[in-house]
Amino acid sequence: MGLLDGRTAVVTGGGSGIGRATCRRMTEEGARVAVFDVDAPSAEQVAKEIGGVAFGVDVGDPDAMKAAVDAAASELGGLSIIYNNAGTSAFNRLHELDVSEWDRVLRVNLTGVWAGIRAAVPHIRAAGGGSIVSTASISGTRPAAGEGPYSASKAAVAALTASAALEYGPTIRVNAVSPGMIRTTMTAPWFEYMPDQEERFVTGTPVGRVGEPEDIADVVVFLCSDLARFVTGQNIVVDGGLTLHGSGVDTIFDRVFPEG
Ligand SMILES: NC(=O)c1ccc[n+]([C@@H]2O[C@H](COP(=O)([O-])OP(=O)(O)OC[C@H]3O[C@@H](n4cnc5c(N)ncnc54)[C@H](O)[C@@H]3O)[C@@H](O)[C@H]2O)c1
Repeated sequence: MGLLDGRTAVVTGGGSGIGRATCRRMTEEGARVAVFDVDAPSAEQVAKEIGGVAFGVDVGDPDAMKAAVDAAASELGGLSIIYNNAGTSAFNRLHELDVSEWDRVLRVNLTGVWAGIRAAVPHIRAAGGGSIVSTASISGTRPAAGEGPYSASKAAVAALTASAALEYGPTIRVNAVSPGMIRTTMTAPWFEYMPDQEERFVTGTPVGRVGEPEDIADVVVFLCSDLARFVTGQNIVVDGGLTLHGSGVDTIFDRVFPEG
């Protein structure tokens, strides 16, 4: 018996990385999945692999999202889960960002999550209840220089999650996941251009490695399942402990007790 037997799900950004891994895990746990991605061929590829359905759609277009979610619910025979995961990033000084760059990040990462909630809620209610999960980021609570619009959008996703949990309980549970450094297309350039980053995350993360998309997918499956029946409004950090660092006495222990 699977954790998501009988459930039907939309996964945005399902064509790559964390979204693709989640489409696979949800399917393994018994869900029927609609793969949403602005890159239609990648959505189709994943849908073919998992026996799901594919939609080429831009999450930042709320009316297109509504039409696609309606169509997905109709094809799947209802909808009980949406995972709002599609995201994009920018890296620049705030005063040098183009307006178009600012708009793009906020539109995909924040408006896209709202568009998913707006489109899915009527269907999840009609199904008698279910779960909404969205991808925030550790950047939302521990922002770094250069990622202003990204960090702000992800902090907003956590706030939107709390609001939605209050609005839609007890019928719908609403949560977010905040991944740490996960090896995907989005983060590949960091490792390509700065090979020392790999070692930095291995030594700087208590679990001793860079994250993989499946590390997030498993937590999303948990949040969508009945195992998480008393969890709502939360932003679950899944970063191998990376953000535990940074206290005033950080690293002193290792210098006092160097022998481990
Ligand atoms: N990789 C990490 O370390 C990390 C860390 C924290 C948060 N995240 C978040 O995880 C989510 C997934 O990212 P990933 O790392 O798997 O990256 P990825 O690039 O592998 O996948 C992102 C997917 O989203 C799709 N997408 C982008 N814009 C879209 C749009 N407007 N409409 C529909 N689909 C769109 C892309 O085509 C791609 O398939 C994002 O929200 C990202 O911000 C990633």
